[in-house]
Amino acid sequence: MTERPSTMQAWTKVRDEEGGFSLTTHPVPSPGPGEVLVKTKATSVCGTDLHIWKWDDWSRENVPLGTVTGHETCGEVVALGDGVTTHAPGDLVAIECHLACWSCPRCDEGNAHVCENGSIFGVHQHGAFAPYFVIPAVNARHVPEGLDPAHASIQDPLGNAIHTLTGGPVEGATVAVHGLGPIGLFAVNAAKAMGATKVIAVDWDNTYRMDLARSLGADVVLGKDDDVVASIFAATDGRGVDNACEFSGSPAALANCIRSTRMGGYVNILSVYGNGMPNVPMNEVVFRYLHLKGINGRKMWSTWDVMHDLLARGAIDVDKVLTHRMPIQAFNEAVTLAMSGDCGKVVLDFEA
Ligand SMILES: NC(=O)c1ccc[n+]([C@@H]2O[C@H](COP(=O)([O-])OP(=O)(O)OC[C@H]3O[C@@H](n4cnc5c(N)ncnc54)[C@H](O)[C@@H]3O)[C@@H](O)[C@H]2O)c1
Ligand SMILES: [Zn+2]
Ligand SMILES: [Zn+2]
Repeated sequence: MTERPSTMQAWTKVRDEEGGFSLTTHPVPSPGPGEVLVKTKATSVCGTDLHIWKWDDWSRENVPLGTVTGHETCGEVVALGDGVTTHAPGDLVAIECHLACWSCPRCDEGNAHVCENGSIFGVHQHGAFAPYFVIPAVNARHVPEGLDPAHASIQDPLGNAIHTLTGGPVEGATVAVHGLGPIGLFAVNAAKAMGATKVIAVDWDNTYRMDLARSLGADVVLGKDDDVVASIFAATDGRGVDNACEFSGSPAALANCIRSTRMGGYVNILSVYGNGMPNVPMNEVVFRYLHLKGINGRKMWSTWDVMHDLLARGAIDVDKVLTHRMPIQAFNEAVTLAMSGDCGKVVLDFEA
């Protein structure tokens, strides 16, 4: 076994500007009580990383300069802090990035993903665009046997997709997925795997992603040249879908979701809306008796359990959504590619 170094080079947001990342020297951290030290194997690029790159208002308020970012990751446990009995060196783990206090009312009621004292790994504190990181042991989830670390690293967005889908019926239901970014693509894949009778995939103009959705099993694929609402009614015997999931961040798509969901149906919203307040047809929510639900993160741990089962039985075609793998040295290129949209998920691999 190779000796652990005392310092490491990690991608760090160092400048108060767009871009503004440098490969910077940090000490290799030591695990505190209840924590594990993880040697990183693969970290994928998330939309949140793009916000931090662009340095928008949210990032400026939330990410301290000097932070090592990156939160969608998989690695090997190499050391244990005091009191950790759940893990052993050599364990392959993927990370739940929502760090919870486990003692507030939200944690007590099973909603630790919206812990009142929560913070996010790789956003509010050092993350995984680094060769080593520390994390509470409870957030280091064991990976299904034999899974490629790059595939294991995408459980954060796959979990977002599953959490959103499971806000409504999936098995035996008609499902619409609006927005075919990496999370929407995972939702198309997961909805089929979970037994949806029909999956309707909607993007605006990204034909690359629309083709990917088709190859992941979408029954109907729609874009800007279609009348989305009329096409969804036509595909569902004039009823609308049972379960509409919004992953585009576009208020127009949210309005389409509301208008094309059946009476008493479910609209689940993961998207974050950029500027201003989305202008949406609220009276349709009322008169059509819709269940409108905001989704954040992943349920700890029921979303992970569903995901673990799907991955363990090979029901998710991660290879198709994971379109690009690059070495960690190519961080800037990976972010630029992810920003272009000419990709599914982009994953950065670390040296063994
Ligand atoms: N709540 C959470 O916990 C959480 C976590 C992660 C991401 N998010 C949000 O989820 C959303 C999805 O993230 P992502 O990285 O997969 O997305 P992305 O930004 O990569 O992709 C969005 C897709 O939506 C498409 N689109 C644009 N306008 C559209 C329209 N009118 N109708 C249909 N499609 C349209 C775009 O062409 C693009 O392919 C983002 O808004 C992101 O901020 C939320
Ligand atoms: Zn993420
Ligand atoms: Zn809490």
